[in-house]
Formats: sequence, structure tokens, C-alpha cells
Amino acid sequence: MPYLAARGLGPRGIDLAPEMIRVARRDHPGFDFDVADLRELPFGDASLAGLVCWYSLMYLAPSDRQAAFGELARVLKPGGYLVTAFKAGDSRVRRGGRSTGLGVEFDVYCLSPGEMERRVTDAGFAAVFWGGRPAEGQEDSPQGYLLAQRSSGPPIRAGASHPARPPADYPCTWAAERVAGESWPPSGRLRLS
Ligand SMILES: C[S@@+](CC[C@H](N)C(=O)[O-])C[C@H]1O[C@@H](n2cnc3c(N)ncnc32)[C@H](O)[C@@H]1O
Repeated sequence: MPYLAARGLGPRGIDLAPEMIRVARRDHPGFDFDVADLRELPFGDASLAGLVCWYSLMYLAPSDRQAAFGELARVLKPGGYLVTAFKAGDSRVRRGGRSTGLGVEFDVYCLSPGEMERRVTDAGFAAVFWGGRPAEGQEDSPQGYLLAQRSSGPPIRAGASHPARPPADYPCTWAAERVAGESWPPSGRLRLS
């Protein structure tokens, strides 16, 4: 939130878990945080310039995904951006939470980049930038990063020159552009400049 606010934006945060919202309010007083479900966002149609979904789409059950991605598209202005980080995998369900010591278990789906791209495309976005890296340390999967733009005109052609590149100080310090047929996660690392 401070990162976005420092760039002149007016960020607001939501999470399904009341405890996450309590901690967010405690750690970042002065920002708006609300308990809400990304499957039914408390925002008007075309009311937001951008959406950040950081490791939160991976809890969506398959039956919820179409509606949830549609909801993301609904609240974004045409031309607005969705950026998401996710654990990348084969889209099959895994049981998460066992190692947290909190006594809570939940379903996690490490979406395949192909499914992620299909979901955003079907909802009216065009994928304009892909990043990824292999698993590191204790991580059990590669990590994926996707920047997608809500379509405002003709669809952006896959592989076309990007209408907008992340700024050079984008938090992900490196990324690889995705090209048709490329193996994933990308083996090459391209530093943005
Ligand atoms: C791995 S945490 C990431 C939290 C935060 N985005 C961050 O980067 O620190 C995943 C969060 O997604 C939230 N979440 C899962 N399903 C959600 C839903 N349907 N709507 C809103 N939040 C959801 C969980 O409550 C959890 O706090």
C-alpha cells in the first residue's frame, strides 16, 4: 500500500479473512481495508484503475474461477491493469496449511500459466507481460507473475509489442517475456531497463 500510495495512487485493500484485515489496519493505519470476497467485489463497475492480486487467486476452486475473473474485469476501467503473483503448477488441488502450526487446512491450486492466461483472456483481459522464476529455498513450486490489461478496444495480439511495460523499478527485479511455445518457467532472465 505505501508503495502504491507513494506513486500517487489511492490504494484500498480487501481480504476474506477478518484477521488479515485487522493486521493490515494495525500495520498500515491511514489506508482503507475491508473484509470482502474477490468473488463478489464491493466496487462499482469500471471504478478501479488497477488490481493487485498477490497470491490470492490460487485459493479459487475451479467452479468459482470464471465468475471471479469476471468480477475482476467488471470493476476495472477499460485499459486498466491486473497484476497477479501465483504459485505455478499443474492446476491440481493440494492441501495447504499443514505446516503453519495454526491448525487450519485449505485447498490451494497452483495454476498452470496456460490456465491463468486462458482465465484472464476469457474474462476480457489481454496478457501483456509474464514473469516467472523457479522455486527457491523452501518453496514447493515455481512462482508466476502476470500483468494483464482490461481490453478497451481490439484485443492485444499475443506476442505484439507491449503497450505498457512495467517501470524499471517494478518490484520484481527481473522477469522474462513469454513467447509462444516457450517452456515455462522461462529459462532466460531478462532484466528490465
Ligand atoms: C498467501 S495470502 C496473501 C496475502 C496478501 N495478498 C499478501 O501478499 O501478503 C492469501 C490471502 O488470500 C485471501 N483469500 C483467499 N480467498 C479469497 C477470496 N475469495 N477473497 C478475498 N481474499 C481471499 C486469504 O484470506 C489470504 O489472506
